[in-house]
Amino acid sequence: MHIERILHSQGFGSRKVCRALIRAGRVTISGQIQDNPFADLPTADLVFTVDRETWRFRDKAYLMLHKPSGYECSRQPQFHAPVFALLPEPLVNRGVQPIGRLDQDTTGLLLLSDDGQFIHVWSSGRKRVPKIYEVAVRHPVNETMTEALLAGVQLHDDPEPVAAAACERTGERSLKLTITEGKYHQVKRMVAAAGNRVESLHRSGIGGLMLPDDLAPGQWRWLDDGDLARLADFDTTTD
Ligand code: URA
Repeated sequence: MHIERILHSQGFGSRKVCRALIRAGRVTISGQIQDNPFADLPTADLVFTVDRETWRFRDKAYLMLHKPSGYECSRQPQFHAPVFALLPEPLVNRGVQPIGRLDQDTTGLLLLSDDGQFIHVWSSGRKRVPKIYEVAVRHPVNETMTEALLAGVQLHDDPEPVAAAACERTGERSLKLTITEGKYHQVKRMVAAAGNRVESLHRSGIGGLMLPDDLAPGQWRWLDDGDLARLADFDTTTD
């Protein structure tokens, strides 16, 4: 593929912008400046730099972000900065989208991709992917509360009670809750329906993929094949 097209596909701007970048000597491949926009290169395993930053060609982008509090998952945020402000511009340009949304005050694991099919499959709810939340609540957690969450609580506007796939008290005012749907404000509404109130919410895992300890709030990284395999590694026999 022409290097101009490669850069365009990776989010470095229009073909014209990419051509100018290349002609200005800002792109290197294997340590050499590549100033011919029409040089034809294989994309497999291609590593290049733009303004000394190293990139690897990726047909599709799959990444995880440790979402901090105070960021909205929307492209048109209303009151807070968008999560996209935490990503490099080429990723935003190539159209990565969050897979499911977290509230602005929720922290933790957020997946993003520009692969429409992948986004659809993992956010549709049909897969019943377990999402694991660490929840801090206002009032002490008792057995009545955890039992109610496991048995199913009635959410306003929902025909059927909604049950947690797993629920475990982790402290006097904290619990670990696993849900397999992705309803609006689901954890907050479930906890409220069980007679308590969420004070803070952190998503620690999706499927078998856990937020790594060394990924600080606000940091992102690419998902590798192991991460993608872990994401899909969960038990659906709870259906
Ligand atoms: N449930 C909520 O209430 N909020 C979130 O951000 C995620 C799940």
